[in-house]
Amino acid sequence: MRGRRPAVDLTTRVGSVVLPNPVLTASGTAGYGHELADYLDLDSLGAVVVKSLHAEPWEGNPAPRVHATPAGMLNSVGLQGPGVEVWLTHDLPALAATGARVVASIWGRTVDEFARAAELLADAPPEVVAVEVNASCPNLEDRRALFAHSTVATAAVVDAAAAAGRPRWAKLSPNTPELPEMAAAAVSAGAEAVTVANTLLGMVIDTESRRPLLGAGRGGLSGPAIRPVAVRAVFDTREALPEVPIIGVGGVASAEDAVEFLLAGASAVQVGTATFADPRAPARILRDLGRWCDRRGVAALDELIGVAHG
Ligand SMILES: Cc1cc2nc3c(=O)[nH]c(=O)nc-3n(C[C@H](O)[C@H](O)[C@H](O)COP(=O)(O)O)c2cc1C
Repeated sequence: MRGRRPAVDLTTRVGSVVLPNPVLTASGTAGYGHELADYLDLDSLGAVVVKSLHAEPWEGNPAPRVHATPAGMLNSVGLQGPGVEVWLTHDLPALAATGARVVASIWGRTVDEFARAAELLADAPPEVVAVEVNASCPNLEDRRALFAHSTVATAAVVDAAAAAGRPRWAKLSPNTPELPEMAAAAVSAGAEAVTVANTLLGMVIDTESRRPLLGAGRGGLSGPAIRPVAVRAVFDTREALPEVPIIGVGGVASAEDAVEFLLAGASAVQVGTATFADPRAPARILRDLGRWCDRRGVAALDELIGVAHG
């Protein structure tokens, strides 16, 4: 019957946070506020994860910052942003007014910078239901590595984010073979969930100039090209830490893609690059997920989450 609401209950639980459904936006691909509100009902999504915020305003990397690649894109936006204080007064009110559940993503170059960003979030309104700690950013104190490439640094930034006084999710990097160890370190430092994963490190070289094409040289690869890597990363994390809630992200462009992540062990998914091609993508994926479950007699997400592990 057309227009009939699916019978499936899409409610999902990410640690202590209960969401009406498992389809979220991915940080950095849906703006800071209600930018997507003209295209979809932000309140209908599981949550809106905003672009990572630093304690201070941040300029980001030199242009060009994005480049299309086969089945994906490479970006080196460099975490440009207004800073937490400006976000709280300038962007958050309109986003909160939509009724959306908001997840604030924070980043820093040092553990102290994470702590400062978290402290500034302490007075955020209750619409900010969780803080996503973007541990997949460069650690100034260890020039060769991202925070998320060290168990000690991962634990330190998750611990620093406690100052926000909200449930903490740790966003991890797929560029380490020790992802489950990083997830365990994040949980031991207080993370209620892990977001798996950020972009894969990549580079495009311009054959005419004979130099790296992006202004910053290296960039992060996203989109369908990375989906099998992200699914494997979620599967590995679930296998090692079956009790830890996982938010899967990487190349989700359809309901089937979302189901793949749920089967691998994710309790929720984030939609990133697909939103650039179609700003309605998260809403479409949510609608189609309901239909997918309905057609197969799936009544609740528990029937899917982690099932690929047998
Ligand atoms: C242009 C762009 C900007 C991004 N900015 C952030 C960011 O600020 N913080 C973050 O944690 N992840 C950021 N990401 C990574 C995404 O949130 C996501 O982890 C990654 O793109 C993989 O998902 P996707 O293939 O669905 O895009 C960004 C990705 C893109 C493409």
